[in-house]
Amino acid sequence: MVELALRASPPFSKILVAVDRSENSNRALEYTLKLAKLHDSKVTILHVVEPSPSAPETHTAIRAFEIAVEDEARKFLDSLAERAQKEYGIKPELKWQIGHPAKVIVDVAEKTVGADLIVMGSRGLGGFKELLLGSVSHAVVNHARVPVLIVR
Ligand SMILES: Nc1ncnc2c1ncn2[C@@H]1O[C@H](COP(=O)(O)OP(=O)(O)OP(=O)(O)O)[C@@H](O)[C@H]1O
Ligand SMILES: [Mg+2]
Repeated sequence: MVELALRASPPFSKILVAVDRSENSNRALEYTLKLAKLHDSKVTILHVVEPSPSAPETHTAIRAFEIAVEDEARKFLDSLAERAQKEYGIKPELKWQIGHPAKVIVDVAEKTVGADLIVMGSRGLGGFKELLLGSVSHAVVNHARVPVLIVR
């Protein structure tokens, strides 16, 4: 029975990796690509942009913010996709979104991608390094219903 279930839906079929430009998330991506190569998994790379604290007010200013964010996010994700293709022969799906990082990561993993694994770094770009997990990885581990793999 267990074997049958596993064959119907092998683990690591769809992996979502969350990236924020930190060294930890770089290592999380490397690990994901190695895992995906072994298991022939589909890979989605997700980058979340937090809304600017000095949120633009007018419609034009909001649009300008979105365009700038989109441009930056695309460049970043394209560079990662190029690496995945070159080094691992993997063509990942790329996603970016403006929002609260932990909430978006859990939602996209569970509802949009149907991921069976989330991979992320233990820490990110935040400066305060005393704790093992940053606030984003901590919240995802707490709220996700799919397994989460934390890379240090
Ligand atoms: N904006 C984001 N988009 C996608 N993934 C993210 C984002 N922020 C963090 N992550 C993921 O979460 C991991 C842990 O980062 P986290 O933000 O929790 O730590 P931190 O930056 O050190 O702490 P904090 O943000 O609480 O100051 C990162 O390695 C990355 O995989
Ligand atoms: Mg952070």
